[in-house]
Amino acid sequence: MQFSADYSGRLPEIAEHFRAVFSASEGDSEGDLIAALVQEMFASTADPDLSAFTALEDGSIAGCILFTRLSYEQDSRSAFLLSPVAVRTQRQGQGIGQALIRHGLTAVRQHGADVAVTYGDPSYYGKTGFRQITESQAAAPLPLSHPHGWQAQSLTGAELAPLRGPSRCVPALNNPVYW
Ligand SMILES: CC(C)(COP(=O)(O)OP(=O)(O)OC[C@H]1O[C@@H](n2cnc3c(N)ncnc32)[C@H](O)[C@@H]1OP(=O)(O)O)[C@@H](O)C(=O)NCCC(=O)NCCS
Repeated sequence: MQFSADYSGRLPEIAEHFRAVFSASEGDSEGDLIAALVQEMFASTADPDLSAFTALEDGSIAGCILFTRLSYEQDSRSAFLLSPVAVRTQRQGQGIGQALIRHGLTAVRQHGADVAVTYGDPSYYGKTGFRQITESQAAAPLPLSHPHGWQAQSLTGAELAPLRGPSRCVPALNNPVYW
């Protein structure tokens, strides 16, 4: 297993990876939705606001995660949102997701991120250091349909003090269907 932050030349393969994984877990329409989201994230996000990490096995994608900037304009800290996450269906439950998330968190911290935020199942993301938060600790960019899935962690070792002000996600995620 090899981790890579270089997604150049792999965008169609990454979109297909998300389509296949989410089609298998949640149906074809969800697969199409997430593949389109990922394509839009790559197409419309400024380079400094996007990081993608792949787990490669024999040169093909076994897992992929994306981080995009979550801006809190009244706060000097740099926050990134981890979403989406997908591990190849046949390789799920074997530690790839957690290893890839840990790798990605270390890499974004080394590039200056102070806080990582995510939105999903706390019983899964809790395994890689995320803790449930309320919107008084960090405002979500759009109304949350599952507020219990709102989670964050400090990447600096400092306690996670509330993030100040309203937040803004990247344009590709600025759609209520994802929240
Ligand atoms: C969710 C997902 C990324 C986890 O990756 P993975 O490589 O299968 O998970 P790992 O092997 O690292 O971790 C396995 C552990 O997480 C738990 N887990 C796996 N998927 C889970 C889920 N969807 N919800 C809660 N817990 C989950 C397992 O029960 C297991 O727990 P254990 O270690 O106590 O036995 C992967 O299953 C996947 O791609 N699922 C389909 C797409 C998806 O739901 N993505 C997340 C939303 S963006």
